[in-house]
Amino acid sequence: MAKPRVFVTRLIPEAGLAKIRAACDAEIWTEPLPPSADIVRQKLADCDGLLSLLTERIDGPLLDVAPKLKVVSNYAVGYNNIDIPAATERGICVGNTPGVLTDATADLAFALLMAASRRIVESHTWTLAGHWKTWEPLGHIGQDLVGRTIGIAGLGRIGTAMAKRCHGGWGMKVIYHDMHHNEQAERELGAVRVDFDTLLRESDFISVHADLNDTTRGMFNAAAFAKMKPTCVFVNTARGPHVVEADLVEALKSGKIFAAGLDVTDPEPPRIDNPLLHLPNCVVVPHIASATVSSRNAMAEIAADNLIAGVTGQPLRAWVNPKVADQRRK
Ligand code: DGY
Repeated sequence: MAKPRVFVTRLIPEAGLAKIRAACDAEIWTEPLPPSADIVRQKLADCDGLLSLLTERIDGPLLDVAPKLKVVSNYAVGYNNIDIPAATERGICVGNTPGVLTDATADLAFALLMAASRRIVESHTWTLAGHWKTWEPLGHIGQDLVGRTIGIAGLGRIGTAMAKRCHGGWGMKVIYHDMHHNEQAERELGAVRVDFDTLLRESDFISVHADLNDTTRGMFNAAAFAKMKPTCVFVNTARGPHVVEADLVEALKSGKIFAAGLDVTDPEPPRIDNPLLHLPNCVVVPHIASATVSSRNAMAEIAADNLIAGVTGQPLRAWVNPKVADQRRK
């Protein structure tokens, strides 16, 4: 029997590719840059499965030209690049990769918090430029961390892992804003759920870990930055569109907040003339939160398992839209 045809939109770790090649007739896009929307459309005309990255926009019109498509397996825990209702309506399963990049992402959020608070990148650049002439009693002064208040926007898996680092390692008070109570974090970390304004007003550091959806898009805007402490350090490892970037630029330039550490921008990649890349109090890295050996290997395995389950009619290992089960495409 012919193997199911699948399109994989980028080279991912061999831990996943080997599984996919064994079970499927796989075409793998090996270019360093993503395939264009036109190429994805052409490939999908004849595919049973798609392994996508967060760089591909998967929406209704695209799915309409994919009559055989049974599954979209996203190589990411976030799936805001996929129109889930559109996939579900068409009987298409969607998978993601939760649970295996939690620590890697929280580690990077903490690294950005530390780098921005202690002005590490700015000091490094200054050193490389030959400005280090003597020890400076008044130079490079940053923020203290111990015993201060971390505000977490979105206390799910990754937000909780960040809160644990801040509370356990640095004795910080944890406050959080989330639609849901996180009783375990309240019990174990003394986390306190607060409204959004209180989070903005009381936090010394704010770290974003919320899903991107219609209620969270643009939530960090001029009004929000205006309520933060002038010493506040803002960290985003979730998605760029949580932030109105022009407002963040203004807040950083005018001293409404102290600094920012960003793993994500809007759009990605940022234009080279994006002011965020040129402000001394902003650290920007290229969406690398999950970029560790074990996280990327585990993501590849889950994404491969989801893809193979999708094309063979099995339940997905991490299934974003399980309610499609009764009407999934055969
Ligand atoms: C995700 O998984 O959603 C990250 O943003 C990339 O690993």
